[in-house]
Amino acid sequence: MSLCGSEHSLFSEYQGIVKPAFQLDPPPLGINRPFQKEDLASSEQLLEKHHHEIAALFVEPLVQGYTGLKMYSPEHLAALHDLCKNYDILFVADEVAAGFVKTGSMFACDQAQISPDLMCLAKSLTGGMMSMGATLASSRVLDVLGDQPFMHGATYMATVLGCAAGNANLDLLETGQWQADVARIAHKLKTGLAEYSDIPGVTLCQSMGLLAAVSVEQEIDAARFRQYSITQGVTIRCIGKTAYLAIPLNTTSEDIEFLTHCFKDCLKTVAI
Ligand SMILES: Cc1ncc(COP(=O)(O)O)c(C=O)c1O
Repeated sequence: MSLCGSEHSLFSEYQGIVKPAFQLDPPPLGINRPFQKEDLASSEQLLEKHHHEIAALFVEPLVQGYTGLKMYSPEHLAALHDLCKNYDILFVADEVAAGFVKTGSMFACDQAQISPDLMCLAKSLTGGMMSMGATLASSRVLDVLGDQPFMHGATYMATVLGCAAGNANLDLLETGQWQADVARIAHKLKTGLAEYSDIPGVTLCQSMGLLAAVSVEQEIDAARFRQYSITQGVTIRCIGKTAYLAIPLNTTSEDIEFLTHCFKDCLKTVAI
């Protein structure tokens, strides 16, 4: 379960059942937004006051998925990492949505040149195709855990199909072809969405790697949006005020053109 985000988060549905966790203010939106010290002021204050009660900070690096594909800058991510280092708090990167080239680099943390203490991969390991996950830990964490870290027998542990899908995904990534594919798709997405910012009612239009998100002024009727998108030949998901795309690596340029065209049609017909 993603632990990040207070609005539209899965975690918020467990309020009153599990012990509440501290929530940092969300990062200011914008991949290229120049970092300002004030952006982190409230987080700094919170950690200064409560660091002795906090074991770890969970972060979705560069893009908060479930809260509506909210994208923020690598500088902000690096500054959060520094903050954790200063207070000796474990930094946990949830790369389930962002990892394995979705944001344009192998992992989102790479763009901030940081190395988290723990990294959650989940289904991104299999390109999202099968139940298969991994939690990576730095030697700083593993050395404390000893010989049998995370000894836990889950039903789908080492499931054969999941491992095969994971291996196939890693084999593909190892060829390095993903770099050209990501560049091609990222460029196509940027061009396809270029004029979206000028559509009245659109408040933010961003893309990064294989991801694109367009936000509008009003909450989107997600069911209606999805239904309409299906009549156009695609399925598009919305969260809150944002509709988004997460493109598989093997998507052709023609399909992206078709997708961005439908995306605009759906936005104009249902969301604005
Ligand atoms: C960012 C993020 N973290 C965690 C999860 C939960 O993953 P899982 O259901 O494999 O535990 C998801 C699910 O989509 C996610 O998007």
